[in-house]
Amino acid sequence: MTLAVYPGTFDPITLGHVDVVTRARTVFDRVVVGVAHNAAKRGRHLFDLDERLELARACLAHLSGVDVDVVPGLLADYCRERGAEAIIKGLRNGTDLDAEVPMALLNRDLGGPETVFLAAAGPHAHVSSSLVKDVAGHGGDVSGLVPDVVLAALERELAPAAARRSAGRP
Ligand code: PNS
Repeated sequence: MTLAVYPGTFDPITLGHVDVVTRARTVFDRVVVGVAHNAAKRGRHLFDLDERLELARACLAHLSGVDVDVVPGLLADYCRERGAEAIIKGLRNGTDLDAEVPMALLNRDLGGPETVFLAAAGPHAHVSSSLVKDVAGHGGDVSGLVPDVVLAALERELAPAAARRSAGRP
C-alpha cells in the first residue's frame, strides 16, 4: 500500500487543495492531508488548528483513502513515522516552484521522502488560501473558490469586519 502526505497550512482548505488531493489519490493508495502549525505563520492564521482540521475533514469526507491529521513538528519526521513514500505538493506557477524546490531538497536531507509535484489544473489552478482570505475579507464573492462549508465558516469568521464595513467604519 502506497502512502503520501500532502502537507500545508490549509487556512482554509480551498477547491484547489481538494483537486490536488483527488488527483493524488489516483497515484497513491492513501493520502494523508497533514495540517501543519507552520511556525512562520503562527499567530497569523484566520482559523485555529482545530477549525482547519474540521474544515479539511468536512471537505474531503467524500474521498476514500484520505485522512486528515496534524503535522506537529518537522514534516520529514512525520513522514518517516507514518512510513510515507512521498510528499505531495501542488504547483500553480514558477513562484511556487522556486519556494518548493528548496523545501523538497531540505526535506530529503532531513530524512524525509521524495516530493512529488502535481501541476495545479482546472478552474481552481490559481486559487490560494491567502487570496481567498483577502477577497472574502473585503466582502468579495469566493463562492466558486472554496467548498460551501468553508464559505459558511469564512462568513462567520469575517462577520464582524463585514458589519464594520457596512456601518462605514474601518
Ligand atoms: O500551505 P503552506 O503554508 O504553504 O504550507 C507550508 C508547510 C506547512 C508545508 C511547511 O511550512 C512545512 O512543511 N511545515 C512543517 C515544518 C517543517 O518541516 N518545516 C521545514 C520544511 S523544509
